[in-house]
Amino acid sequence: AGIPETSAAAADVEIIARRGANNIFNEHTLTAYEIAADAEVDSLEIDLRMTKDHELIALHDAALDRTTTGTGPPESRTLEEIKQLNTVAVFGEETYTEPVPALEEIFAKFEQKEHYYIETRLVDGDTKMEEPFIDLLQEHDLLNPEYVSFQSFSKRSLQKMQELAPEIRTTLLYNANKFNLKDALAADADVIGLESRNVTRDNVDALHQQGKEVHVFFTDEKTQLAEQQRVIAYGVDGVFTDDIDFTKQVVNNA
Ligand code: G3P
Ligand code: CA
Repeated sequence: AGIPETSAAAADVEIIARRGANNIFNEHTLTAYEIAADAEVDSLEIDLRMTKDHELIALHDAALDRTTTGTGPPESRTLEEIKQLNTVAVFGEETYTEPVPALEEIFAKFEQKEHYYIETRLVDGDTKMEEPFIDLLQEHDLLNPEYVSFQSFSKRSLQKMQELAPEIRTTLLYNANKFNLKDALAADADVIGLESRNVTRDNVDALHQQGKEVHVFFTDEKTQLAEQQRVIAYGVDGVFTDDIDFTKQVVNNA
């Protein structure tokens, strides 16, 4: 109810489950990814962090504090230490807990049944996670555009991924206050990832004319649903959604 009509282009929108089904279960957990997979999203979005012993885990923040029972940066703990923690989140009257997953566990669970849209970042200002990430994809036979896409706010990290695996699609992300259309038009990336406030018809059209897709993320919880309707009507190619059911309704009503 209350969903306005959108353009015909909306039917092609890629539905990307940001951090799994994070509105139903703890973000970046196997359960959150399973709920998203069961909802048949197009992609599972995963943020990568690296542990002290150079293992890759699914975690968004620079510190463990907000989402887990731990504190401080994940880089200061081994994977074994991080596995002793739990993610914690409250949904209504329920508090759920579940361990932080290693990337390897996510791959082992879903194998080639899902498409993974994975965000890399610099570690201590350097390209440290890219090679172990590629190794893990190879071990699980996932280094194929059918199974994985790369995204990053860091041009250096994205460039390293392109050097290691040029066949994989890449998304360059822009924080809302850093977006620059000229820079995005010239960027070496298949997709430009924008915060919704940077999504105007003119920006979408210009990026499309340059042969680039536009994927949108949302940082304001209060306006996200209205913003999803707005940007989908503009013909964007994908949304990183925090509410899979809502996005499906908007896309299906297009
Ligand atoms: O990666 C796409 C979107 O999730 C970007 O924002 O901060 O959630 O990684 P963030
Ligand atoms: Ca992300």
